Amino acid sequence: MTLPHSGLPRDEVFARLDVLRRDDLDSRGGRTWAYVYDSGRAEVDEVAGQAYLAFLHENGLDPTVFPSVLAMENDVVGIAVTHLGGDEHAVGSFTSGGTESCMLAVKAARDRLRERSGPGRARVVLPDTAHAAFSKAAHYFDLEEVRVGVDPTTFAADAAALTAAIDERTALVVVSAPQYAHGVMDPVEAVAAVTAERDVWLHVDACIGGWLLPYAARLGVEVPPFDFRVPGVTSISMDLHKYAYCPKGASVVLYRDADLRRHQFYACADWSGYTVINPTMQSTKSAGPLAAAWATLHHVGDDGYLDVARRTQAATRRLIDGIAAIDGLEVLGDPRLSLVAAHAPAYDVFEVVDEMKRRGWYVQPQLAHGASPANVHFSVTATSEQVVDAMLEDLAAACEHARGIEVSDERRTFLAALRGLDPDAFTPEMYAGLLAAAGLGRAASGPNAGDGAALPPDMATINAMLDALPAALRERLLIAFLGELFRPAPGGRADAVSPGAG
Ligand SMILES: Cc1ncc(COP(=O)(O)O)c(C=O)c1O
Repeated sequence: MTLPHSGLPRDEVFARLDVLRRDDLDSRGGRTWAYVYDSGRAEVDEVAGQAYLAFLHENGLDPTVFPSVLAMENDVVGIAVTHLGGDEHAVGSFTSGGTESCMLAVKAARDRLRERSGPGRARVVLPDTAHAAFSKAAHYFDLEEVRVGVDPTTFAADAAALTAAIDERTALVVVSAPQYAHGVMDPVEAVAAVTAERDVWLHVDACIGGWLLPYAARLGVEVPPFDFRVPGVTSISMDLHKYAYCPKGASVVLYRDADLRRHQFYACADWSGYTVINPTMQSTKSAGPLAAAWATLHHVGDDGYLDVARRTQAATRRLIDGIAAIDGLEVLGDPRLSLVAAHAPAYDVFEVVDEMKRRGWYVQPQLAHGASPANVHFSVTATSEQVVDAMLEDLAAACEHARGIEVSDERRTFLAALRGLDPDAFTPEMYAGLLAAAGLGRAASGPNAGDGAALPPDMATINAMLDALPAALRERLLIAFLGELFRPAPGGRADAVSPGAG
C-alpha cells in the first residue's frame, strides 16, 4: 500500500471506507449477539457521536491544560462510584476498556504488595472463569497466575477453594460479577469475608455486569451484594461501553480509597522532555470516548437505564425459556443477568453457530475449558427483545441442521490425534501446516498470492480443531494465525478497495 499521490476527495474517502466495511457484522438492529451493545435508541447513538466528535482533538494527556477533560472524568467516575455503593473515600479512573481496567487493578495490587513485602514474584489468585484480561495482566506484569477450578454445575467460583489458595505472596484475589462465559455471579461476599480478615486485596470484575446489576435488582432480579457495600471489596472494574451503551473506549476502575489507587499511577520527571503524569496506560489520548460517555450517561439518565434494563431482562428470560424448549440444547449454569451459554451434548454447537451465520445471526462459539463444554454464547441487549423470537426460531432450525450432520471416522481420529499433541515439540513449520489444514494459511499462489490469511465462511471445522487442542497449542496457533492476518497491504493495492473494484 502506498499513499495516493494527491489526496482523495472527501466523497471518495467515504466511498472507500464503505467498501472496507461491507463484510462487517451489523452493530445495530439485534442480529449480532456478541461484541456490540445496542440500546435500541438511535438518538442515544447520535448524542454520543456528536459529543465524541466535539472532543476528538482534545488531549487527555495533561489534565491541567484541558480542564474539561478533568471535569468530565471526575463526573463520570463520581457517577460510577455512587452506582456501586462507594463512599466519599472511593476514587477511580476512566480507562479505554475492560482489559485496561482489569490490568490496572492487577498492577496496583502488585505494587502495593511490593511496597509492603519487598521484591519477589507476586501471585494473582482467580477462578478458572475470570476473564482472560487477568491472564494478560499476569503475563505483562510478571505475576504468577493461580487459576482455581469452579463448581462444575453452577460454574460459580468455589469460595473455599479460592481462598485456600491465598498465601503471603498473593497480591490480589479476583472474582466476577458476573463472569462472561456463563453469565453467573461469583460468591463475592463469601470470598470478601476471608480476604478482609487476611487483609488481602479483592478485585471484583464487574466489567460486564456492574452497570446493569443495580438496575436488575430494582427490577426484582435476585442480585447478591457485589460492590463496595461488601466490606473487603478493594477495587472494581466496570465497563461503560457495554451495558451503559457508551461508544467503545469507555470503562472505569474504582478503588475503595485514594491510597490504593496511588499504586496505579505513573509519573516520570527523569528525562529531558515534558513531565509525564499518567493515571492510566495511555499517555496521549483523545477525549472523545470520555465526552461520549459523559453525554450518554447524562442523556439516557436513570429512568432511561431502568427502561433498557427492563427490556434486556425480558429478552433474557425469553431466551432462556426458548433454549429450554429446543431439543438437545441446554443452558449452562443458572444465568440471571444478560449472558447465556448453551451446549448440545448430542451434536456439534459449532455447526449451530455456522448455520446461524448463514441465517443472518452472529452468535459466539466458546471452546471447552475445564468443566465447561463447548458452547454457544449469547450477549443479550435491549434490542434483543425485538428479535429474540425470530432468533429462537432460526436457532431451533440450526440445531436441527447440526443434529443431521454425521461426524466422519477420519475427523474423529484427526481430532483425537490433536488432543495428544505436545506443544513443546511443535515447530513453526508444523504451525503453518496446521493453519493450512484448517484453511487459514496464507495464499501461496493464485490471484491472492502473498495476501494475509482470510477467514473461511464456515468455522465449524476450525473451532472443532481448536477445541480439541491443548490450551497451550491453541494459543500458539492463534498467535501464528495473527502473524498471518496482520500483514501490510502490498504496494499498489490502494485501488483494491475502490468502490469500482468492490
Ligand atoms: C467480565 C469481563 N471482564 C473483562 C472484559 C474485557 O473487556 P474489554 O473487552 O472491554 O477489554 C470483559 C469483556 O467482555 C468481560 O466480560
